[in-house]
Parts: sequence; C-alpha cells; structure tokens
Amino acid sequence: MTQRTCLSIILAAGDGTRMKSNRSKVLHEIAGLAMAAHVARATRQSGSAATALVVGRDADAVRAAVSPFAPDAETFEQTERLGTAHAVLAARGAIARGHDDILVVFGDTPLIDAADLAGARARLAKGAHVVVMGFHTDDPAGYGRLIVEDGKLVAIREDRDASDTEKAITFCNGGLMAIAGAHALDLLDAVGNDNAKGEYYLTDIVGIARQRGLNAVATEVPFESVLGINNRAELAEAEAIWQRRCRQRMMLEGVTLLDPETVHFSWDTEIAPDTVVEPDVFFGPGVTVTGPARIRAFSHLEGATVAAGAEVGPFARLRPGADLREKAKVGNFCEVKKAVIDTGAKVNHLTYIGDALVGAGANIGAGTITCNYDGYAKHLTTIGPGAFIGSNSALVAPITIGEGAYVASGSVLTDDVPGDAVAFARARQVNKPGMATRLRERFLKARK
Ligand code: UD1
Ligand code: CA
Repeated sequence: MTQRTCLSIILAAGDGTRMKSNRSKVLHEIAGLAMAAHVARATRQSGSAATALVVGRDADAVRAAVSPFAPDAETFEQTERLGTAHAVLAARGAIARGHDDILVVFGDTPLIDAADLAGARARLAKGAHVVVMGFHTDDPAGYGRLIVEDGKLVAIREDRDASDTEKAITFCNGGLMAIAGAHALDLLDAVGNDNAKGEYYLTDIVGIARQRGLNAVATEVPFESVLGINNRAELAEAEAIWQRRCRQRMMLEGVTLLDPETVHFSWDTEIAPDTVVEPDVFFGPGVTVTGPARIRAFSHLEGATVAAGAEVGPFARLRPGADLREKAKVGNFCEVKKAVIDTGAKVNHLTYIGDALVGAGANIGAGTITCNYDGYAKHLTTIGPGAFIGSNSALVAPITIGEGAYVASGSVLTDDVPGDAVAFARARQVNKPGMATRLRERFLKARK
C-alpha cells in the first residue's frame, strides 16, 4: 500500500487580542515550545509531510518557530480575517498542488494529539470525505454543534446561528478537520458568508458535502485535545494539562517522581527509567538524563546531560552544556555551565564551574570558582583526573591543573599546575603570640 500524502494547514491568522501581547498568540509557549510548533509537531507525527501556515502577523517568527518540525513550511498571509474557510483558502496554492489528505488545524490548539490526527486521516483512507473532530461537553455555548442524523454527520451549526433545539446539543466541533484532498477546493469554494457573523465558515463544508452525496463523519476526541487558547489564563490551564500528561507518561515509562505536581518538564525532556526526581525540580529545554540518576530537590536544569548514577542537587543549577558523566556529583548551590564533569568527579558545595573540563574522580572543594570570563571572552579551565582543588579557590582561566595535582585552599591560581604538584597561591599565615591581649588593652585604654 502506498502512503497517502497529506498537507497540514495551520491557521494562525487570528489577532489574539485577548493575550494582550506584542507577539502573535501562537508564539506563546507551552512547556517551552511555541503553540504553533506543538501543532506542527503533532501534524508531522501523524505522518503529514507538507505544511502550510496561514498567518496575519509575525510571519517570519511563526515560520521560524515551526521550522524544527516543518522546515519546508510555506507561509500564506491572510490579510483580511473573513472566517475559517477564507483562512484555509489563503493556502489555495498549496491545496491545488494535490494531496490525498488535507488536515486543517488551529495554531492556538497546542494540546492536539498526533494519534487523534492520525485517526482522522485513517477515516479518510476508509472513504470519508470530511472528518470532523468532535468532543462532548456539558457547556457547549460558543461551539459549533454537530448535527447527527441516523448516525451520520449532516451539518455543523455555529452557536450564533443555532436554533434552541440545536443549542441543546452537547456534541461539539473541536474545530479541526480532515478533508479528502480531491474535493477540498470544490467544497471550500462553495462556502458563502450568509450567516450571523457574515463570515466564511469552514464548518459549512459538512452540509455542502452532504448535498453532493459525499460522506462526512465525526470522530470523538478528548475535550482537552482541542482546547483553544485565547488568553494567559487559558495558556496556564493548557500548560497545567500538558505538565500533568507529561508527568503521567514519565512515571509510566519508569521514572520515579516523589511529588509529581511540583516537577516541571520541558517539551523535549528525556529521562531514563529508574531515575528518581525529588520535589520542586524544573527542567528547561534540552535536558537528557541518559541513565538512572537522582535529581534532588529544588534543582534547575537546562540544556544539560546527566548520566547513570549521577547526582544533582539539592539546589543545583545545570546550565546549557553541562555534561555530567557516570556517578558525577553536583551538589547544593553549585552552578555548572558548558562543562564536562567526568566520571565520579565531585562538585559538591557552593561552586561555579563554567567552560571547563573536570577530570574523572577530581574533587572540587567548597566555594571553588572558575573565573572564565574577563569581560570580553570566555576561557577554558582544564582540571586533570584525580586532581584536588582546595576550598575557596579561584581558577583564573585559561588554566590547566594537571592530573593528580593538589591546590591549596584559598588559592587564586593564574598559572598552570603540573600533574602531581601542590600549588599554593595565597599569603602565608603569620601568628603573633600574645598580641591579641596587647591589642585588647590598647583598645580599652583608648575608650577611657
Ligand atoms: C471555530 C469553529 C467552531 C468550533 C470552534 C472550536 C468555525 C466557523 N467555527 O469557531 O465550530 O466549535 O472553532 O474552538 O470554524 N482564523 C484565521 N482566520 C480567520 C478566522 C479564524 O486564521 O479569518 C483562525 C483563528 O486564529 C483560530 C481558528 O482559526 O486559530 C479558529 O477561529 P475562531 O474565530 O476562534 O473560531 P471559533 O469561533 O472559535
Ligand atoms: Ca476559537
């Protein structure tokens, strides 16, 4: 069986005024990824290879946001906002190229599931010409109602145009549709705007299809999957749903979350089974835990890799490029950026390691700082395997500390240290016997 081709049309031309934002609504993020990108990702995962973006503003930014998932997306501008059918027809050039399936999705519906889209496409493959993704709700006000007669979808009635009987229907249009490519332009061109809003409704193609003897069907998807975002409160609601789904998936895949509600994931977080994540941990974009590790409470990770047996936190910050190898430890109030912490190395207390290579088994004492930045450029610190850096040392980069070397506490190092050497870079201690007593006497006298 040859694969059916599919064009996904992402509608994103709404002004999104209720977001009260300078940016297009669909650029706002869920789990660190723009809503439009979530939608593009779902369409790709459903097997759709071509993408058309219908935008009203920020065209370049929207295209850039979806490009990781739809690098060849075509952009179409809808200058006047005359309704959803009109918006779809803005992509006429792409539709006319001829695809087996057309998916119409909304850019502000970030929770849409690839499986639901694939399900709709499967109905097209079985002979349906229009597939509508519906949901059930006790509060249908505002949605298009799905008019089903004898098990067949005959029409969609928009809220403003619905009779009282129709308004009582609780089976609603989620807004997203799959259309047989061969009929798409014919159906869309037949849509008029003689309705309460004076808009060209995409939903009218259901009734038109019926008149032409074509087959329209409704599938049911969870309400959450078609949740449309109009303001920041709904954005937060969608974020919460996304996070809940992600935690559930992580736990079912073998990750222990001690207090799931308090852990925040990014859209791309990957965590190996048997990892334990303690409460109040934030995963920003680009984190991969490659083997069972422990992420302790109140840690913040972003762009980091953590290997098996490693321990992070409590209260640790891993920034982009942090690469913790097997059994490495980064403890409380430590920050690691663009640095390898090799096997078994320990960075346990109040330390900054940036632009560095920390060798296997090295021990970095409390309060150690890599001075990696001179105000103009970043410089590298290399610490050899098994080296010991005494507490409260400043390593002024570029600098290399050799294998097995020992750095005395409180050193400010500006020169390389050879392997197995001990480096002192601090003033020598001087004790003056009895001087404290003499000092006290002098101070007392002065007060009289
Ligand atoms: C639409 C459906 C309704 C469904 C509801 C689900 C139609 C006519 N109605 O109504 O049946 O229950 O979604 O949420 O389709 N857009 C454009 N250009 C336009 C108009 C809209 O790009 O000219 C985009 C919007 O940015 C939005 C999407 O299309 O992402 C939906 O438009 P909206 O006006 O919100 O439709 P609803 O009235 O919610
Ligand atoms: Ca809407």
